[in-house]
Amino acid sequence: MSAMDSPPPEHSSERSPREKIEKVKRIEREFGIPIPGEILPAEQWVKTAIKHLPAAGPLAWDEVFGADYALKQGVVLDLGCGNGRSTLWHAVVQPQFCYLGVDVLPVVIRYATRRANQRGLGQIRFAVIGGKELLENYIADGSVAKICVYHPQPYYEERLIGKRLVTPEFLAMAHRALVPGGELILQTDHPAYWSYMESVVPTFFTLKTLPGPWPDAPRGRTRREILATKRGLPVFRGVATRRDAIDSAAAFRAAASMPVPTFNADRRLLELDREEGAFKP
Ligand SMILES: C[S@@+](CC[C@H](N)C(=O)[O-])C[C@H]1O[C@@H](n2cnc3c(N)ncnc32)[C@H](O)[C@@H]1O
Repeated sequence: MSAMDSPPPEHSSERSPREKIEKVKRIEREFGIPIPGEILPAEQWVKTAIKHLPAAGPLAWDEVFGADYALKQGVVLDLGCGNGRSTLWHAVVQPQFCYLGVDVLPVVIRYATRRANQRGLGQIRFAVIGGKELLENYIADGSVAKICVYHPQPYYEERLIGKRLVTPEFLAMAHRALVPGGELILQTDHPAYWSYMESVVPTFFTLKTLPGPWPDAPRGRTRREILATKRGLPVFRGVATRRDAIDSAAAFRAAASMPVPTFNADRRLLELDREEGAFKP
């Protein structure tokens, strides 16, 4: 286990041998890699599920996160968060933010919620909703610090490609939702999806690609990233900073004339998708 994948220092201060054994029991692993955070005694568990989103937005962050919100520096969205590993990772390593993780699959959100609850991560919330629907209906303009999109589903079948999350319209919505200078984190193991992102993202964001693994999580921030890396597949990562010189109306106008993602998905990656599904969550 690398030091960077370990729980952060506040969790690993001086402990007696007995405490160290107890700590090992409280660390869960997935593919041999610790899931961020420690399972706490039940009396310290919290509730992180948003079981019912309000009928209409935008969400008021102080109502969503309660008193925690005033103590934090902003809100981070994790869209298509899967089993929540990335959301937990961010909340443990960057505790200065509140987090909202969403996914369209209820089963993965149930696992994500349980893990966040048991780790006492009261500044996280999870909800079942699509990433685009969340941005479109529930997020006030200029109200989030960061948006994470780790391994959006590439959708292989022709009839499903309209469901691909990263489109020019989605990017304009992300641009509108972010605070000035806010960041969009993008990651995929799908070469054609990445090429598409590289072609459209710079209209709205300044995209900086990372040459290798995340320096702060060399073994991976997300479940899919870990699986892809174990298979020896390349993982493409970038941090895109909002271009504040473009206003929101101009961003949507630009999006309307840009190409949607119609690339042919590489069906060889389907096998990895099946493996991911088999382990899920
Ligand atoms: C390849 S998995 C990646 C999960 C996780 N981000 C990771 O990196 O391990 C893609 C996830 O996106 C979810 N998903 C698909 N379409 C979505 C959408 N429109 N909005 C939100 N989540 C979506 C799927 O249910 C699945 O959990």
